[in-house]
Amino acid sequence: MKVSAVILAAGKGVRMVSALPKILHPVAGKPMTAHIIDQVKAAGISDIVLVIGFGRQQVEEALSERQIKFVVQEQQLGTGHALMQAAEAVDHDGQVLVLAGDTPLLTAALLKELIDYHKEQGAKATVLSCMTDNPYGYGRIIRDNEGYLERIVEEKDADADQKTIKEINSGIYCFDAGLVFDCLSQLKNNNAQQEYYLTEVFEIMKRENKPVAVFMSPDSESVYGINDREQLAFAESVIRRRKNLELMKGGVTISDPLSTFIDSEVKIGPDTVILPFTLIEGSTVIGQNCVIGPGTRISSSLIGNGVHIESSRINEAEIADDCNIGPFAYLRPGVVLHNGVKVGDFVEVKKSIIGENSKIPHLSYVGDAQVGKGVNIGAGTITCNYDGQHKYPTVLEDGVFIGSNTNLVAPVRIGKNSTTGAGSTITKDVEENSLAIERAPQKNISGWAKRSKE
Ligand code: UD1
Ligand code: CA
Repeated sequence: MKVSAVILAAGKGVRMVSALPKILHPVAGKPMTAHIIDQVKAAGISDIVLVIGFGRQQVEEALSERQIKFVVQEQQLGTGHALMQAAEAVDHDGQVLVLAGDTPLLTAALLKELIDYHKEQGAKATVLSCMTDNPYGYGRIIRDNEGYLERIVEEKDADADQKTIKEINSGIYCFDAGLVFDCLSQLKNNNAQQEYYLTEVFEIMKRENKPVAVFMSPDSESVYGINDREQLAFAESVIRRRKNLELMKGGVTISDPLSTFIDSEVKIGPDTVILPFTLIEGSTVIGQNCVIGPGTRISSSLIGNGVHIESSRINEAEIADDCNIGPFAYLRPGVVLHNGVKVGDFVEVKKSIIGENSKIPHLSYVGDAQVGKGVNIGAGTITCNYDGQHKYPTVLEDGVFIGSNTNLVAPVRIGKNSTTGAGSTITKDVEENSLAIERAPQKNISGWAKRSKE
C-alpha cells in the first residue's frame, strides 16, 4: 500500500519572535522541519509534500536539497485548508500521513507504528494522541462511553469539562487519501478561530460511517511541538542526548555528554574519545582512535584516524591520519593536512595544503601555501600573502627548513631541502639545497652600557 506524506508548515510561528520562519530554526544543526522530513524518509516514505506560506522562498531554498514537493497556501485559513492545498500533489489511491512542521523529535519508528495501527484497524482516519500533564493549548481527544473517538475539540472551543482531558491531539494523522480530500471540501469555519480545522474531518467521516481510530503514542516526548525558544532549547537538548547515545552505542567514548554538543549529521568512528566542552558541527566526519578536545570546535570537516586535537577551532578543513593539532590552533576553510602533520599552539592555517610529516609547531600564520613533505616551519613564521588587494601563493618544497621568525613575502618559492635563516624576510625565490639569509650582520659594541649611563 502506497503512503505519501504532507507536512503542514505555512504558519509564521509568532511566538518565536523571529524574522526566520519557525520551521527553519535549527535544532542540533539542521532546520527543525528537516528533522521531520528525514524521519519520514527513514520510515520508508519518499513522496513528501511541504505546505508553505510564510517565508516560502527562504523555506524552499533551505530545503531544496531534500527532494520534496512544495505547495503554497497563500492565506493561513487553518490546518484543513492547508491540507487542501496539497490535493493535487498527493496520490489519492494510497494513504497519506499528515504532520506539522514543528515537531522535530518525531521518530521514524513511531510513524511506522502509527501507519501499522491504521492498517490493522482498517481505519480511514487515525489520529496520533498522547497523554500529557499539561494539555493546555492542544486539541483534546473526546471519547464516548465505550472509549471510541467522538471528536477532537480545540482548546479555544472546549468547555470546562473538556479542558480537564489530558489526552491530546499530536497533530499527526494517517488518512485514506482519497477520502480525506473528499471530506475536506465539507469543512466549515464556524468555530472560535474561524479556521478550517483538519480535525473536523473525523466528525465528517463518523457521520458517513467510516471507521476512525486513535493511536496513543507510548511517549509524549516524540510529539513535542515547538512554539517558542524555550521549547526550541528543550528539543535541542533531546536531539543532542539521542545523538550522543547513538554515538556511544557505536563505540565512541564521550566523557561528559552534558558538555558535548554534536550535530545530528556528524559521523564518528569507534574508539574515538570526545573530551568535555567540545562542539562538533555540520557534516563533520571523524575516523577511529582519535582524541578530540577538551575545548574544541569542529565544523564541517573531514578527519582521519588517530588524530589528536586539543583546544582548537577547525572549520571546513581536511585532516588525514595521525595528525596532531593544538592546543590553540585555528584551521580555516580550504586547509588540507596530509598524514602525520603537526600544527601546534597559536598557529593559524588558511587555504593551504601541508604535506606528510610536516610541522608548524608554534606561533605562525600560513595562508595560501603549498607545503611539501617533511617541512619544518619555525616558530613565528608568517606567510605575507596579501598586499592589500590580492592574495599570493607560497610554495615550500619537500624537506625545506624555515628558520624561526621568517617572513615569506608571496609569491615566493623555496626549493627542495633549502633553509632560511632565522629572522629573514624572504622576497625572492630560493633554489634547491640552498641557504637564504636576509639580515644585517650583528655588531657588538663593547662598553656601550657603561658609556650610555654616563
Ligand atoms: C493543531 C490542532 C490541535 C493539535 C495541535 C498539535 C487543528 C485545528 N488543531 O493546533 O488539535 O493539538 O495542532 O500541535 O488542526 N498550518 C498551516 N496553515 C494554516 C494553519 C496551520 O500550514 O492555515 C500549519 C502550521 O504551520 C503548523 C501546523 O499547521 O505547522 C499546526 O498549526 P497550528 O496553528 O500550530 O495548530 P494548533 O493551533 O497548534
Ligand atoms: Ca502548534
